[in-house]
Amino acid sequence: MLNSENVLNSAQLEAAIKKFVHNFCLEKHDIHSQKVTWYTEEGQADKIKQIGISKEGRPVDEVVTKMTEEAYRYRGDANHPRFFGFVPGPASSISWLGDIMTSAYNIHAGGSKLAPMVNCIEQEVLQWLCRQAGFTQNAGGVFVSGGSMANITALTAARDHKLNDETLHLGTAYISDQTHSSVAKGLRIIGIPDSRIRKIPSNSTFQMCTDVLEKQIQEDTQNGLIPFVVIGTAGTTNTGSIDPLEELAAICSKYELWFHIDGAYGASVLLSPRYKHLLKGTELADSISWDAHKWLFQTYGCAMVLVKDVRHLFHSFHVNPEYLKDVEGDMRHINTWDIGMELTRPARGLKLWLTLQVLGTDLIGSAIEHGFELADWAEEALLELDHWEIVSKSQLAMVNFHYTSEDLTEEETDLLNERISERMLASGYAALFTTVLNGKKVLRICALHPETTRDDMRTTVHMLDTFAGKLHTEMKQLQK
Ligand SMILES: Cc1ncc(COP(=O)(O)O)c(C=O)c1O
Repeated sequence: MLNSENVLNSAQLEAAIKKFVHNFCLEKHDIHSQKVTWYTEEGQADKIKQIGISKEGRPVDEVVTKMTEEAYRYRGDANHPRFFGFVPGPASSISWLGDIMTSAYNIHAGGSKLAPMVNCIEQEVLQWLCRQAGFTQNAGGVFVSGGSMANITALTAARDHKLNDETLHLGTAYISDQTHSSVAKGLRIIGIPDSRIRKIPSNSTFQMCTDVLEKQIQEDTQNGLIPFVVIGTAGTTNTGSIDPLEELAAICSKYELWFHIDGAYGASVLLSPRYKHLLKGTELADSISWDAHKWLFQTYGCAMVLVKDVRHLFHSFHVNPEYLKDVEGDMRHINTWDIGMELTRPARGLKLWLTLQVLGTDLIGSAIEHGFELADWAEEALLELDHWEIVSKSQLAMVNFHYTSEDLTEEETDLLNERISERMLASGYAALFTTVLNGKKVLRICALHPETTRDDMRTTVHMLDTFAGKLHTEMKQLQK
């Protein structure tokens, strides 16, 4: 029995948790008036390093306070209503509660026999999600830590279904120039090198060009390669564009390729009664990636990989070692270690189930639709001003734009837009970053937070305009 005053009894544990939760909730209170970015001060990392690792242990209160003040404080707050960078993570407080519950019980969710009802809830959520995507009967899936893991899980199933040890060296995959980097990364990991990953160009609305795709598949087949998978995206990271899913499915069916949809970002639109029609064609896919920690308001890391026929996952991931014999599963009582990469894993699906139960799908659907509206409002505010060009129109809660002026060269325009983003970050009011579209540096807004207001969007745009005007003048003065 360990005996130290630093080992907490249950009353002390309760007190420590209460204190943390109280302070955390205070911090979350009135989030609108708080900064989005908390920059690290000079020497902050040294402060952490000097703490070292304790030999004798230290009182919990002291360490928790240190962690809060010296580590967690410094962050770009992706949960903030005015965090418009990357894909924000506007986690619901219900998901946060679910996370605490899951950690508290610390369930080994890999096997169905270890916690059968926890497994049952996860499977129920997955089956429900499959139905939203239009998958039926043999469909299934598994919770994973994020879109990257969902993609590699699906791509592994695609590889094992379409290729074997003798043909792997010929397997060829098709993505677009807008596909998320995790897809090519995943392909490389499963043995498909860059030389057999075809990057198909996208059209003026950033959707994969299906005519180029088909020609490339034909050419590769003639050259003795084996096309095996096409990856379409439902909600690209740059612009929110959706590839022509039905056309891609038809090509995959014609040439017998696996059709994977990376819906890490956009699959949540399936829960919006108003916009789900945009995702027509998901029902034709073989597999779909879907991040709950993006637009389903979950804390990190919670994502799903869904497959039309769960036996494909079983084929790729089933293991049967002697030390798991007592808890062996079957297709009716699935052990998730048999359909995914992880053995020990937390019950990631329970916080999503809790959120769905408490908030209800109507509210979640409206929260998703609010994101569409936010990007529309930003676009509307930009169009009222001079000098701003919309490069990719508002869609799926995203809009891309840049400041231009006739007296600026292309390089100056790129630099100026980069500086606008830096000034906004330094202001702490909002966070947005740049990306590159059609060779131009553009500013990108991705707005998912249910508590973001029209006023937040308009003020952000007006601040951008003020920064742009000042930078423009400064740039021209330097040239004199
Ligand atoms: C379309 C798309 N796919 C995959 C990913 C990777 O997801 P994760 O960061 O959860 O691994 C992202 C992340 O932004 C994404 O936007």
